[in-house]
Amino acid sequence: MAAVVDALRAIFAPSNFVIDSESAGDVVARESLLDRAMGPGRRKKSSEKLRRGRLPAEGLALVARDNGHVIGTVRLWNVEAGVDRDGQAVPALLLGPLAVDPAHEGKGIGGTLMRAAIEEAKKRGHGAILLVGDADYYERFGFFAERARHLVMPGPFERNRFLALELKQGWLDGAAGMLVASGRKLALPPLSSAPHDIFSPFTLGRLSTALLCLAGSWAPLAFGVAVYEAARR
Ligand SMILES: CC(C)(COP(=O)(O)OP(=O)(O)OC[C@H]1O[C@@H](n2cnc3c(N)ncnc32)[C@H](O)[C@@H]1OP(=O)(O)O)[C@@H](O)C(=O)NCCC(=O)NCCS
Repeated sequence: MAAVVDALRAIFAPSNFVIDSESAGDVVARESLLDRAMGPGRRKKSSEKLRRGRLPAEGLALVARDNGHVIGTVRLWNVEAGVDRDGQAVPALLLGPLAVDPAHEGKGIGGTLMRAAIEEAKKRGHGAILLVGDADYYERFGFFAERARHLVMPGPFERNRFLALELKQGWLDGAAGMLVASGRKLALPPLSSAPHDIFSPFTLGRLSTALLCLAGSWAPLAFGVAVYEAARR
């Protein structure tokens, strides 16, 4: 039923969108869109290992806006795509996630975001883009599994969904090995990669916050917030 409603909304939704650079104020809308479009499993993907704790590649976080609202997102990340025949790391980009608000699918927004991202990556002198996704969708933009055949993701992946596009001809010739994150690091560690040591400030902070629910007192919350804030500084 939800799929039918989404399809009807897509048919009648207006399609006046613009492609823009993502800004700091877009984060909440982007994350909410990704949850809606991709579901809760999105953070378990192998690609996530290459994104966690990193900033997107310079100038390569784009959004589609409709009246200012974020209705599509694509981001690209700096990686090393294995090594070449001389043992030198091969710089490349990893694309993803690409997502369009389900209410606006099928209006060319995904395609426009992809073409804008590819164009911008070319302008910035990058040599190749890799991604994990449906070949049926990405082949139209020039992505094929063949160019990535000697590369592997740092975790489970389906070989026929691991695709590459060369922006400079021959860039991936001889490239072999595992993808490794190489982008700028986030200043703060993401919560999901916080240490799991029972005595770490993160764990203590979270534990005491959980105690609030059990004890119904504000004291553990105050303690939790204080420890957490101290840890982030
Ligand atoms: C995939 C996605 C980004 C496409 O966005 P969109 O704005 O609807 O795409 P466009 O309007 O540019 O293109 C629509 C076309 O792509 C096709 N398409 C969409 N998803 C596809 C898929 N997974 N496999 C093959 N074709 C697909 C549609 O059938 C349509 O084909 P048509 O032009 O022949 O009618 C969007 O459906 C989405 O966000 N999906 C959920 C998240 C996701 O799967 N992201 C990509 C990871 S693989």
